[in-house]
Amino acid sequence: MSPRLNIIGGGKVAQALGGLLVRQGGVGWAAVCSRTLLSAERSARCIGSASAVGGIEELPSAELWMVSVPDREISKVAVALAERSAVKPGDVVFHVSGAHTAEELKALRQRGALLGSLHPVRSIADPAVAISQFEGTVCAIEGDEEAAQQLAQLVRRIGGVALQVPPAAKLLCHAGHVFASNYLVAVLDAARQLYEAAGVPPEAISAFFSSIARGALENVSILGTTAALTGPVARGEVELVRDQVAAIDARAPELSGLYCALGLHAAGIAARRGEVSEERLDALRRICLRQGA
Ligand SMILES: NC(=O)c1ccc[n+]([C@@H]2O[C@H](COP(=O)([O-])OP(=O)(O)OC[C@H]3O[C@@H](n4cnc5c(N)ncnc54)[C@H](OP(=O)(O)O)[C@@H]3O)[C@@H](O)[C@H]2O)c1
Repeated sequence: MSPRLNIIGGGKVAQALGGLLVRQGGVGWAAVCSRTLLSAERSARCIGSASAVGGIEELPSAELWMVSVPDREISKVAVALAERSAVKPGDVVFHVSGAHTAEELKALRQRGALLGSLHPVRSIADPAVAISQFEGTVCAIEGDEEAAQQLAQLVRRIGGVALQVPPAAKLLCHAGHVFASNYLVAVLDAARQLYEAAGVPPEAISAFFSSIARGALENVSILGTTAALTGPVARGEVELVRDQVAAIDARAPELSGLYCALGLHAAGIAARRGEVSEERLDALRRICLRQGA
């Protein structure tokens, strides 16, 4: 018989992963609860073969339980599930956080549940887009052995790549994901602000992002970060970097700190490459540290 899935937290990941699991993962049917019934109903509609219920205590019997609430809520939900739900021995309960381990669900051990975590290593801003791009997405898995095996099987069924990760590595590894995904968006937003301050029209801004940001990502995937770095810091252009810091100070001072912090990191990459003289690197570092050069 196909396993049934209960979902707690009906947001973006629930809709994407829940949708994939009921369509392709061999999951027979899903029930969703969220903070409000309205949010659960919206989520159930997006998932497809799913029904919405008003709270944890109304969730039916199921073999799989996905906790897809904000990270700060996971342990509280686990306690509530342990106290007021139909979780039974042998059920697999997992959360989808990249930062936390399965231990966040430890309150459910008293119910005999098998605990795990399954983190889709992808930014899920729009569930429909995530579903259409999911093929080949790496999903980091850890937890009780039997739970981890079942989760890996589910991931493979929905077209993902299951990667077992050591629990102790999760927090720092997730900080890496924050740089590679969330802060990448933040950096591109800073670029957008500067383009706007320079009077670049919106259609040209989209064109810039497509050519320059995509090009940099492609270079990184082919060459690695050390060889992919280009630009004024990589060339040791001290005078240009100084002028740019002054221009940003004048027109968008809230971005000067970010430009200098990233410039300092880029100087470290340039030093690793060994193509810029120590003297120029020192001058670049002094500009970025606001020590004058
Ligand atoms: N988005 C991503 O890119 C991404 C990628 C991988 C993993 N994750 C992980 O996925 C998890 C969920 O993130 P998300 O992006 O899906 O967040 P989200 O879109 O904000 O969804 C969170 C959902 O949880 C509900 N909720 C909040 N507190 C709750 C509670 N105590 N009980 C029941 N439901 C509750 C919210 O209800 P309302 O609808 O009423 O607000 C909302 O529907 C997090 O652990 C996150 O680390 C996210």
